[in-house]
Amino acid sequence: MKHFACIVGARPNFMKMAPILRAFEDCVDADPILIHTGQHYDHNLSDIFFEDLGLRFPDISLGVGSGSHGEQTGRLIIELERVFTQAQPAFDRVVVVGDVNSTMAATLAAVKLHIPVAHVEAGLRSFDRRMPEETNRIVTDSLSDLLLVSEPSGVENLTKEGHSGDRIRLVGNVMIDTLFRCVAEAANQPLLTELGLEAGTYAVVTAHRPSNVDRPETLQGLVEVLISVSEELPVVFPVHPRTRARLESFKLIRALESASGVRILEPLGYLDFLALTSQSRVIVTDSGGLQEESTALEIPCLTMRENTERPVTVTEGTSTLCGSDPQVLDDNLRAILNGTYKSGSCPELWDGQAANRIVAELMSSRD
Ligand code: UD1
Repeated sequence: MKHFACIVGARPNFMKMAPILRAFEDCVDADPILIHTGQHYDHNLSDIFFEDLGLRFPDISLGVGSGSHGEQTGRLIIELERVFTQAQPAFDRVVVVGDVNSTMAATLAAVKLHIPVAHVEAGLRSFDRRMPEETNRIVTDSLSDLLLVSEPSGVENLTKEGHSGDRIRLVGNVMIDTLFRCVAEAANQPLLTELGLEAGTYAVVTAHRPSNVDRPETLQGLVEVLISVSEELPVVFPVHPRTRARLESFKLIRALESASGVRILEPLGYLDFLALTSQSRVIVTDSGGLQEESTALEIPCLTMRENTERPVTVTEGTSTLCGSDPQVLDDNLRAILNGTYKSGSCPELWDGQAANRIVAELMSSRD
C-alpha cells in the first residue's frame, strides 16, 4: 500500500485535486489522505467547491488562514510538518498542485522530512519574479522529484533549468478534466436566467493579482477599462475578497457599482462560474486557470497581464496578453465583436484524462 498526502489550500487547488482523488479510487494499492491547509476559508472560496466538485471532506483541516506571505507560509510549514511527522503510517509521498503558498510550504515541510514530493503543474514560468506564484513554482520544482507537466513549455523550462528528464512527465492539464466533466451540468444551472443574461452576449471579468489590484493607480485604470468594456458588452464581475477590499479602500467600488453595464457579484462556486464563463462572449481576466479554461472552452480570453506562465494558451489557445493597456484591450474587444478575433484549439493532452496519467505515474514511481 502506498500512502499519499494530497495537499489543497486555495481555490484553484480544488479542481485540480478532485480528479486525482477520483482516479485513485480505482487503485486498490493507494491510500490518499486529503489535507486542507485552510489558506482559503470563506464558504465561496472553499466549501462550495467541495460541494460542487463532489470532493470528499478533508481528512485533515489545518485552518491556517490569511496573513502576510511570511506569516502564512510559516504557519503552513509548522502545521504541515506536524501532520507529516505524526502520520501513522508514514506518508510515502506528498502530492502538491499549482503554485499557491500552500503548495510551496507543503513541499518544504515534506522534503526536510525526506518525504518525496510530486508536483502537478510543474515547469510553468512567467519569468516575473514579482509574482509570488513564480517564487512558489521555482522552489516547488527545485525540491520535487516527480515533475508532472501540463503543457510543453513546462518541459522546456525544466530541462533548461537542469532537471533530469527521467523526473519530468508531460501528463496534460488536470484542471481540464474537471472542466469537461462538469460543463454539461453547469449549463443547467439557473444562474444566467436569474441574472437576466443571454448566452453569448456578455463579458465575464475576474481580477485578483496583487500586480493589478494592490496599487490605486493600476486598479483605477482597470476600473476605467471595465466601465469602457461595459459600454459595448454587459460585464459580469464576481469579485475576489482581496479585490473587494482594495476597491473599497481606494474608493473605486462606487464607480463600478454605478456603471449601468457592470454587474458586481460575490465570488461564485465552480458550477455557477462555469455556467457563466462557458456561455460568455469573452473572458477578461488576470487568472492563470481561466486562461486555460477559456482555451479549452474555445472562448476568447483577454488576459490583463504583461506575461504568462501558460504560453500555450496564447500560441494555440484563445488568449491574448493585453497588459493593463485600455487601448489593447479595446482593439481586441472590437475584433471579438466584429468576428475577426483569432480562433484557438485545445492543446495536446488537455483531453479529460490527465488524472489517470498522473495517478499511473504516482503508482509506478519509485520513492
Ligand atoms: C491565492 C494564491 C493565488 C491564486 C488565488 C486564487 C498565493 C500566493 N496566491 O491568492 O495564486 O490565484 O489564491 O484565489 O498563494 N481572503 C478572504 N477569504 C479567504 C481567503 C483570503 O477574505 O478565504 C482575503 C484575505 O484578506 C487575504 C487575501 O484575501 O489576506 C488574500 O488571500 P491569499 O490566500 O493570501 O491570496 P489570494 O489573493 O487569494
